[in-house]
Amino acid sequence: MPNTHTPLIDLSVHHEPVDFSDRIALGFTKLLRFCADTFFAKRYGHRAIVLETVAAVPGMVGATITHLKCLRRMCGDQGWIRTLMEEAENERMHLMTFIHVAQPTWFERAVILGVQWVFYLAFFALYLISAKTAHRVVGYFEEEAVISYTHYLAEIDEGRSPNVPAPAIAKHYWQLPDDATLRDVVLVVRADEAHHRDVNHGFASELAGLPVDPARIAPYPVHADDIRLAA
Ligand SMILES: [Fe+2]
Ligand SMILES: [Fe+2]
Repeated sequence: MPNTHTPLIDLSVHHEPVDFSDRIALGFTKLLRFCADTFFAKRYGHRAIVLETVAAVPGMVGATITHLKCLRRMCGDQGWIRTLMEEAENERMHLMTFIHVAQPTWFERAVILGVQWVFYLAFFALYLISAKTAHRVVGYFEEEAVISYTHYLAEIDEGRSPNVPAPAIAKHYWQLPDDATLRDVVLVVRADEAHHRDVNHGFASELAGLPVDPARIAPYPVHADDIRLAA
């Protein structure tokens, strides 16, 4: 049964590639999806932790580069900087939540270290070369995140992953009831990802000069203003 904290989202959104850069972004995403599927198989808790350490990078890179561009050009940002910084913070809260659900192995911690070096530098370079492609990559990443969290929900619903009580940090951040469970958490995390998906596809389309319909952006769940109060 859907809880009242989770906005209804369209799970089937897919941006059809319209040009070469879109195809590169989609191909790159599918390659990473294959690597993740091979590495994690059905260990969804571990998968969430490692991939959220990656997901929290692009927003901060985009915010930094947009901030620097606005300083140089002395122009407004149309709200992009705060949106991207908030996205990075939200992804970090996904990580801080799932760390209470699964513990990464030492090997996974080593992978996180190596991947962060490579991904931060590569994404920074990509954003400088083509911000449009960079946002399209994130849009496609988020499409995959929505699919992965849907699989995670099925694992919980079919009893293969225990539906443990929601961590306190998650109950605070998403303002969930006291008796919330992991299932409720995965539902709101998936809604966050759907929102990021539509925002980033929208940014990419805007940069490409394509029409963007703000009404088609998936609604964002409610988040606590002060995440430092999180237990
Ligand atoms: Fe996330
Ligand atoms: Fe995301």
